Amino acid sequence: MSTEAPKPVRRITAPQITAMKGGDPIVSLTSYHAHTAAIVDKYADFILVGDSLGMVMHGMETTVGVPLDLMIMHGKAVVRGTKRALIVVDMPFGSYEESPKMAFRNAAKILKETGCGAVKLEGGKRMAETVHFLVERGVPVMGHVGLTPQASLTMGGFKTQGREEDSWPIHIEDARAVADAGAFSMVVEGVVEPLARKITDAVGIPTIGIGASVDCDGQILVLEDMLGLNPKPPKFVKVYGALAEEIENSVKTYAAEVRDRSFPTEDQTYR
Ligand code: KIV
Repeated sequence: MSTEAPKPVRRITAPQITAMKGGDPIVSLTSYHAHTAAIVDKYADFILVGDSLGMVMHGMETTVGVPLDLMIMHGKAVVRGTKRALIVVDMPFGSYEESPKMAFRNAAKILKETGCGAVKLEGGKRMAETVHFLVERGVPVMGHVGLTPQASLTMGGFKTQGREEDSWPIHIEDARAVADAGAFSMVVEGVVEPLARKITDAVGIPTIGIGASVDCDGQILVLEDMLGLNPKPPKFVKVYGALAEEIENSVKTYAAEVRDRSFPTEDQTYR
């Protein structure tokens, strides 16, 4: 029998994600709480604690109202529940746009308090200086271009980007600016397929698509959407589970058993 202690599991790092450019597709999902994250951890290269948690977990209409403390709270839970995947925590609206210094202060708070390995922020060219400022000071940054939900109020909703071909150069420039600023990877959300391909070809870091076709270096979905918990998932989402149905069936059965006194049985009682 071997007496060797099992090797400790090492977390995937931001540079390791960068090195996956053009290789096997990168697998990622969002996660907001420890137990689901522990399951996702077995299969994903990175887990995003996305600010979509405001909508998915807290019933908000958009991500604009998500506070930094909420991101940190869910970030802590996901780090606690995982040991292998890189954990990326979103910087919420209002926590980084004002200045690179403000962004650094809040990014450092996220890294220190959650123990995550990277942060993500939205925006292209206009955020390049901030991305550079953070990366130079030791903060791994994931970019986010195309449809940027934190700008949904100015964009007039969650609209697919790049439908007009003459808008493509702006999006490609945005992606290049974020990559040149030192981001280790970037989410490309809600863009038409040929634009996703052009962005992926234009940058030397992995693109992670959501509603942006197979022509990205990896894919991400919101966990609750793909599990079938969201009654109205976005059109591009493939729903792999039927969690809403399972929860309803379990709750219904439990309620019926409590009412007819078949639950709790004797062996389910504290003694
Ligand atoms: O907040 C989030 O869930 C995200 C994904 C849509 C990429 O940013």
